[in-house]
Amino acid sequence: MQRCALTLVLAFSSAALALDNGLMRTPPMGWLAWERFRCDIDCQNDPQNCISETLFTDMADRLAEDGWRELGYVYINIDDCWSSKERDNQGRLQADPKRFPRGIPRLSRYIHDRGLKLGIYGDIGTHTCGGYPGTTLDKVQTDAQTFADWGIDMLKLDGCYSNSTYQELGYPMMSKALNATGRPIGYSCSWPAYQGGLPPKVNYTQLGQICNLWRNYADIQDSWDSVLGIVDWFFENQDVLQPAAGPGQWNDPDMLLIGDFGLSLDQSRAQMALWAIMAAPLFMSNDLRTISSGARAILQNKVAIGINQDQRGVQGRRLIKEKSGIEVYLRPLSNGASALVFFSRRTDMPYRYMTSLKTLGYTAGVYEAFDVFPEKRLPELKDTTEFVVSVNPSGVVMWYIYPAADWWKGAEPSRFSEKLIGPKFHRYANEAYAPLVL
Ligand code: GLA
Repeated sequence: MQRCALTLVLAFSSAALALDNGLMRTPPMGWLAWERFRCDIDCQNDPQNCISETLFTDMADRLAEDGWRELGYVYINIDDCWSSKERDNQGRLQADPKRFPRGIPRLSRYIHDRGLKLGIYGDIGTHTCGGYPGTTLDKVQTDAQTFADWGIDMLKLDGCYSNSTYQELGYPMMSKALNATGRPIGYSCSWPAYQGGLPPKVNYTQLGQICNLWRNYADIQDSWDSVLGIVDWFFENQDVLQPAAGPGQWNDPDMLLIGDFGLSLDQSRAQMALWAIMAAPLFMSNDLRTISSGARAILQNKVAIGINQDQRGVQGRRLIKEKSGIEVYLRPLSNGASALVFFSRRTDMPYRYMTSLKTLGYTAGVYEAFDVFPEKRLPELKDTTEFVVSVNPSGVVMWYIYPAADWWKGAEPSRFSEKLIGPKFHRYANEAYAPLVL
């Protein structure tokens, strides 16, 4: 009877297009092992960095104790190479007994006790990409139930050792199986990444109905080149990708490298800013035990996070690609606000880019702006005011912009979905104006 009612609601409500688990109304945030720790299973020689329960309890401690959790970084996600090479005698996946001696349910309790959520990794095929047992179609229900029994909160389902027919059956089947467990489990599908990421092979309407997020494109690596390749692909295909995203359904350009080895601080700010524009999931893959204060400040920037987490959930777009190598990106936000990113592909020196909000398509009016990374409020500007931003090579200037008329109505603390961002942002409003670079 309840099922019948649900089906009716689904049939008549256009708002119920996304996977109906009520999860991830804003892009999920947390930490994911893969990019930084890969398939290091050598716990004998590298006990601090191998894929083991110690790695995940260490990272959980850091998320809980170093201010990450309060900012929204709540998922702690296991990736490949966690399992034993054999299923148990009842056909269920099991963790490697040496590296996870207390098993996943105990780890899951540890994570939940700290107010965090646990993600795990599987693969719809014969093997995972790392060669561990995959989830063949006959195992979909068993694995969904095992994950639910263990208290898992999110599943990344990869697509190695599989083919398009198999994926077409397997990804929707797992979506149903997860829902049928009754446990809310966020569902990340790598399906489009294995089918070239674009229609007609990829059906984004269907993905929005069965997955909470999906990897569209190649794996990120610890280099600026890799970030640029991803940014190029996502914005070259923005006409297809941008409409696919919304509350509960997100494009996933892959993990944040900030805090690793390959990006300068400017490049790190650029990744944070562009991932916020893309409404991308924010999964860090770094070592939170040793992260530098510079990288931490970027990842913990409350306004950048607030922009990423805006509750309207509209993905942003690239507006302009100048011959000079400067690009302008815009994301519309709640309450008439918006985020602008000025990005430089130059390799020489800071570039002084002159424009106006009118040139960028803003309607006539007076605006307030907040410069996200220096955390400074800017002077009021009209749509017609010409201003100059100085953009570092492979860096960004990111602004949060809102109509000035609303400023003193006391509405601004609720502009961001995360309540905590309001008071700090409000405080800046009362501080001295920072001069515009003119
Ligand atoms: C694929 C995925 C990566 C990671 C590895 C693990 O390459 O795209 O994100 O999960 O498999 O083997």
